[in-house]
Order: sequence, then C-alpha cells, then structure tokens
Amino acid sequence: MREELHNLRNEALALIQEAPNSQELESLRIAFLGRQGKINQFLKELKNLPQEEKKQVGQLINEIKTTLEKAINHKSFTPQPAVNQKLDFDPTLPGKKPPQGHLHLVTQAIEEIQRIFTDIGFIRVRYPEVEWDWYPFTSLNMPPGHPARDEWETFFVDAPQDSKYGKMVLTPHTSSGQVREMKRLGKPPIRMINIAKCYRRQQDMTHTVMFHQFEGLLIDKNVNIPQLKGVLDYFAQQFYGPKRITRLRPFHFQFTEPSFEVDINCPLCLGKGCKTCKSGWHELGGAGMVHPNVLKAGGLDPQKYTGFAFGWGVERTYMMRSDIKIDDLRLFYSNDIRFLEQF
Ligand code: FA5
Repeated sequence: MREELHNLRNEALALIQEAPNSQELESLRIAFLGRQGKINQFLKELKNLPQEEKKQVGQLINEIKTTLEKAINHKSFTPQPAVNQKLDFDPTLPGKKPPQGHLHLVTQAIEEIQRIFTDIGFIRVRYPEVEWDWYPFTSLNMPPGHPARDEWETFFVDAPQDSKYGKMVLTPHTSSGQVREMKRLGKPPIRMINIAKCYRRQQDMTHTVMFHQFEGLLIDKNVNIPQLKGVLDYFAQQFYGPKRITRLRPFHFQFTEPSFEVDINCPLCLGKGCKTCKSGWHELGGAGMVHPNVLKAGGLDPQKYTGFAFGWGVERTYMMRSDIKIDDLRLFYSNDIRFLEQF
C-alpha cells in the first residue's frame, strides 16, 4: 500500500505540473482530493490494515494530501494573450523585403554565351578541370619537353602518372576538350562549345589563377577561314551589338595552322582609332584552323576533314562589354557584395 501511495503522489504531482489551465486543475483536485477521490479511497481501506500499520499509513496519506493541496494552490499558469490585446505595431504597413540575390556575373555571361552558340547548332559540353597532361598538351601537338608548353604556366597534380596520358594537371585551357570531343563523337560533324574553369600560375590585374574560357570547335568537310570569321562576327554582334565586328591577326598556336589573335572593333570609334583604344581594336582571344596532328590525335583523317577552333576568356569577354568599368579582373572573385550588386 505504501508503494501504491508513493506512485499516486508522483502521478498526481506530474499531472498538476502539466495542467494547462484552471479547469483542468480543478478536475485533478476532484479526482485526487475530492470526496470520491483517490486519497479518500485509500483512507477507507485503512481499516483493513493491522493496528501497528494503520498509524503510519494514515500519516503518509495525510502528508500526501497536504503535498497535493499545496501543489494545487501554488500552481500558476503563463498568462494567455488576451484575444483583443492592443497590438503595438500596424499590421497593414508593408513589410521589409529581404535582399534578393542574383546569379554571379560570370554565370550570367556563361549562360548568355551558351545561348548564342547553341542557337546556331553548337552543343554545350564540359570537360574535366583536373585533366591528363595528354589532352591539353600532347594531343595538341605539344609533346613532353616542347617549349610551347611553358606559356601555359601549368599546375601539376601530385598524383601517380599514367603511362599513356602522363601527369595530372589543372587544365590551363579549354582546348583540352578538342580531342575529347572528337573521341566522344567518333566522326564529324562536330560543333562543340566547351565552357569550363581553367587554371594558370598567374595573378595580376588582368589575370587570375582560376578563370573561365569558352572554346568553339567545328569540324566537317570543307570547313574554312571565312566560316570561322562568320561565326566570330555573329558572336560579336549578338554579345556586343550590331555594329561590332572581329578581325583576325596572324599569330602562332601549336594546335592551329594558320593561327590568329581575334580582335573586336572599339565600341567608341568602331575601328577608326580614338583616344581610348588608339588602334581601333581590342584583343579578345585566340583562334585558328585545327592542326592536322590534332585531327589525327582525335582519330580523324586530315585529308578528309578540316575544322576551326577558338578559345576566349569569359571574364575578359564580359569586361569588354560591361557598362561598368572593371579595372581589375580579380574583383570577379573577391566576393565583395558592393561589386557584385552592380550587375
Ligand atoms: C588559349 O588558351 C588557347 N587555348 C586559345 C585557342 C583556342 C587558340 C583554340 C586557338 C584555337 P590564350 O592563352 O591566349 O589562348 O588564352 C585565351 C584567352 O583566355 C585570353 O585571351 C584571355 O581572355 C583568357 N585568359 C588567359 N589566361 C587568363 C588568366 N590567367 N586570367 C583570366 N583570363 C585569362
């Protein structure tokens, strides 16, 4: 009986503590302390106990009764807000709008470049940033030890070498995708636009260690330089405006023959020459006709197929269009919200 009484006390105290309101509390008082309540049930059973226990159990019942009465009397409730409580703010006022973000300017540029080229049948691809040496160099007519490799200021990865593909590198240009695309498709026509991250050991106002390039590659029968020029002018007009054109300047790349630097006419003088540009032209990137050795590396017959390729930096291409003058290319990746918010 003692154990039952202790259980009853614990149960009652827990219920009193959790009672959400005074009605619930009153029901508990009746259930435990009322005339027909559980305490009185125990009192009634006292008479069945042996004489020596009667006194002790009776005392215990009285103690429990007092404890429960105190717990009920001292119970307080957290005041519920009055239904018609006066509000200290005006709910009809417009709220504060949380700041809305937008895509990073490089992502915006990539999406636009992708759209311009896919509109004329190029297919967007992405090739690995961490690449075997063979793809950005050997397959592009730059075998191990070739001095032209130095220009790419490559990061090599400390990983086991492959017997055919050589060391692992962080790809320094998207031209690494040329032979990968030839191998993927197996045969022309090939119309690739590869947009990806590139890495070089360079860091100053016009260079960042990580940057993006977009690489166009078109291979088919009878592909020629006027077609290359047509595609570049189309891009210049779509991206920069209807009065913009490109010009090809002779240059040298190991993987194109002939090779060109691509310039775009100045937006102010449209190529005549002015104080800001002097020559009338601004440099955009590289281009050329795919070298026969590169076609061979991709498993294609250079007697049958020809192709052109071009590769430009996304950040520089965007900088040359921006209405906001961007003096330092590193700002793109400084994560400074004051800079990014302007675009
Ligand atoms: C190349 O990377 C060649 N793969 C381009 C090419 C492709 C030529 C296909 C022929 C055929 P180049 O090293 O010049 O070329 O780089 C091309 C462009 O990438 C540059 O004009 C510049 O816009 C951008 N670029 C290069 N290095 C950096 C850098 N560290 N930071 C930002 N942009 C860069």
